Amino acid sequence: MINTIVVDEKSDDFSLHIDMASQLLLESEVVIFPTETVYGIGAVYSDELAVKKIYNVKGRPSDNPLIVHVSSLDMALELISDDFDKELFLKLAEAFWPGPLSMIVKKSDLVPHFVTGGLDTVAIRMPRNRVALELIKRVGKPLAAPSANISGLPSGTRRDHLIADFNKKLQYIFTSDMLPIGLESTVLDLSAEPIMILRPGAVTKTDISRVTAFPVGIYKSKKEFVPKSPGLKYKHYSPNALVYMLPENYKFQGFELLQSDLGVKGSDVYYLDYKDSNSMAQNLYADFRLADKLGYKYVAVKPCVDDELGLAALNRLIKACENKEDL
Ligand code: TXA
Ligand code: MG
Repeated sequence: MINTIVVDEKSDDFSLHIDMASQLLLESEVVIFPTETVYGIGAVYSDELAVKKIYNVKGRPSDNPLIVHVSSLDMALELISDDFDKELFLKLAEAFWPGPLSMIVKKSDLVPHFVTGGLDTVAIRMPRNRVALELIKRVGKPLAAPSANISGLPSGTRRDHLIADFNKKLQYIFTSDMLPIGLESTVLDLSAEPIMILRPGAVTKTDISRVTAFPVGIYKSKKEFVPKSPGLKYKHYSPNALVYMLPENYKFQGFELLQSDLGVKGSDVYYLDYKDSNSMAQNLYADFRLADKLGYKYVAVKPCVDDELGLAALNRLIKACENKEDL
């Protein structure tokens, strides 16, 4: 059994622990670190043993590729194939990095297939978080990192989620105060024509379209097609409780009526009423996990979508509801 060390960003020994953790990363260990979106569970991207550890500890299917995190543009450029047109990539990196935008590009030979789920493309992002950037810099190599959660559960956004999922399974967990966004990064596929958002996030369609100077679409997964992003076909973001989405204008008139509206008379329902998009993005996953912890079988969410971040949060909520069909 491993004795997990949990280090807060404000801890006095922070630098010392970053040194030790970067050394461990170079010795094929995995480390959890905060980003501005959700926590990541990272390993050196080119280390097969370490990358396999990530898949194992998460229980993640091996065809679901990982995002490779960098701390500089030079580090990113090494990962991209020479014959890939980098103009748009550079413009978008200039506009949004460090930040919550992962860009899918044609990979260079440096990027092994075990990190891309066998694809010839790679998703790259530079996170906007001091701990993440420092760790990558110290290691001197990009870190492959999916969201820190057991596969299928909501992404980890709070310290106690990481402890619940990974305590005694790895050596280091770095934590920050509240992560500012709370939802995973926007995934933008630059490797296909037309370029397309595969996963909406805090860098929005409007933000991206402003830089590209043409309107960028959001990919809609249809059941009959092979999903563009392998991750889209897996169960995602959902608690064990069944999630119901209420209309935005739902008028709550007591639990009895809510239960009867949902058709679950007599069962306790965990009711979530968000007042704005920001708080929905920041709290959705934590609230899902809390519902499970408190033993609820049903969660009812009244969403609030007042901007494009709200649309990204709504996308996760809809997926959490879709998972009902799989049960
Ligand atoms: O905010 C985030 O993106 C967080 C933090 C830790 O950076 N990471 C994250 O990683 O959410 P993950 O693995 O949970 O989600 C990555 C998504 C998956 O749906 C995966 O299938 C997709 O990105 N993806 C990664 N590489 C891809 C590629 N080459 N082609 C298509 N989809 C890809
Ligand atoms: Mg994930």
